[in-house]
Amino acid sequence: MEVLGIDIGGSGVKGAIVDTETGKFVTDRVRIDTPQPSTPEAVIGVMKEIVDTLNYSGPVGVGFPAVVLDGVLMSAANVDQSWISYPGQQKMEERLGCKVTLLNDADVAGIAEMRFGAGKGRRGVVMIFTLGTGIGSSMFVNGRIVPNTELGHIYLPGQPLGQDAEDVTASSVRTNEDLSWEAWGGRLNVYFNEIEKLFSPNLIIVGGGVSKKYEEFFPYIKVRAELQPAQLRNKAGIVGAALAAIGEGM
Ligand code: BGC
Repeated sequence: MEVLGIDIGGSGVKGAIVDTETGKFVTDRVRIDTPQPSTPEAVIGVMKEIVDTLNYSGPVGVGFPAVVLDGVLMSAANVDQSWISYPGQQKMEERLGCKVTLLNDADVAGIAEMRFGAGKGRRGVVMIFTLGTGIGSSMFVNGRIVPNTELGHIYLPGQPLGQDAEDVTASSVRTNEDLSWEAWGGRLNVYFNEIEKLFSPNLIIVGGGVSKKYEEFFPYIKVRAELQPAQLRNKAGIVGAALAAIGEGM
């Protein structure tokens, strides 16, 4: 099937039509800056522009950086606070005139990695992390997702109270604080060891734009689990959203 996937992020809203059998884009990727403030009205307006640009009608999958329960947003970490408790999926359907499946952004990226990337065919507990502005997480048990894990917000030993793991380990922190790979890798090591202590995954997949430089920081991460870079990189969000729209991974 050819399905539209939309990936909503703090800086850009990106969409493309995806062949769900191959995971390939069948159109160019359309990217529009996330409006600021990123209110529901404004962001959904941008989604409508993408649907119109691609001249699309059909099911739409959407990844969003928040906890999403039954299409309703329960949190807003890097987007406007007015999204909290907002019935996002229903409002998107009304505005786009398409059936919408709205899920957490890291969950959809994980769905794509499990189908076409480093998690393909893998059983047991597989965890996928997206290192970006924040940290997104997704967890699969024998190929089925445990949604909304939100492990970027765990507390790390030694951290000041009130700080989340993503406040010190996200990829944006490395750039903002101009950390060396070693210094940042050391922080990731603490993070992934904590994850391992809690969940004992068989496989940890690390995604997000920085994952293309995995050789720079993987040597500092000492975990028992197998550690792999994501393969779909910045396509994972769109591909996974399209797959989610047809029920994959759930
Ligand atoms: C949000 C998550 C999201 C992640 C990556 C976190 O701050 O709480 O919902 O998956 O950022 O965008």
